[in-house]
Amino acid sequence: MGILEVKGVNKRFGGLQALGDVNLSVAENTVHAIIGPNGAGKSTLLNCLVGKLIPDTGSVMFNGQSVLGRKPFEINQMGISRVFQTPEIFGDLTVLENVMIPCFAKRDGAFRMHAIEGVQNERQIMEKALAMLDDLNMADKRNMHSASLSRGDKRRLEMAMCLVQEPQLLLLDEPTAGMARADTNNTIDLLKEIKEKRDITMCIIEHDMHVVFSLADRITVLAQGTPLVEDSPENIKGNPKVREAYLGETA
Ligand SMILES: Nc1ncnc2c1ncn2[C@@H]1O[C@H](COP(=O)(O)OP(=O)(O)OP(=O)(O)O)[C@@H](O)[C@H]1O
Ligand SMILES: [Mg+2]
Repeated sequence: MGILEVKGVNKRFGGLQALGDVNLSVAENTVHAIIGPNGAGKSTLLNCLVGKLIPDTGSVMFNGQSVLGRKPFEINQMGISRVFQTPEIFGDLTVLENVMIPCFAKRDGAFRMHAIEGVQNERQIMEKALAMLDDLNMADKRNMHSASLSRGDKRRLEMAMCLVQEPQLLLLDEPTAGMARADTNNTIDLLKEIKEKRDITMCIIEHDMHVVFSLADRITVLAQGTPLVEDSPENIKGNPKVREAYLGETA
């Protein structure tokens, strides 16, 4: 039984079957990559995992609890954080302020503190945010406006914003999209470091096979909304079905 269990998920957009009978089991403390050509349904699946989209049929269980229909702060409190395809940071705020924000959530019309272990007041939030920046080697940039960060550092900041919530599951939608090779390699190193230092499960959507094979313990290949194969990176590499699924992209 995985920490995340997706069973029989179907999702249609009008006449288009974006997801067709998706089953996925993500084992605790592993990195599970989801790959597939453009339009395969990867982001749709991720949106179903964070309650943003409700499947037409099927279930998504995290630690035995359904995520479907939950509000974003409830998803966070369950222990799930998500890194978006384009870093979602507040450009006008400093790096430190950005990391403090996820510790609050709008609930019942007011901003309240998230229940994060050992954090009861604003001072402790600031200390926690600073410790997180230190952990990700960004403490020296804490007073910079985040809009002026490099793309790689914006990604690092977004990671800090996720990790400050101490998630059990980190979902990443193309974390290296549009990055230069150097920033991609930095992101790979950062994710490796996060994996080594913490008890964390990661589910990563990625087009860059160098990233996938550097990080993944397990890979699911989606094609036209349906899992084509799930296997170890070694077996995926030599699988002719996988090459077939990517032909549309390379043709
Ligand atoms: N809100 C929506 N309304 C209608 N169609 C949608 C919607 N979201 C996604 N789709 C369609 O569903 C299919 C799957 O889209 P999705 O974004 O999940 O693919 P993807 O695998 O993430 O692709 P990419 O690699 O380009 O990011 C596509 O055909 C897309 O056009
Ligand atoms: Mg996508």
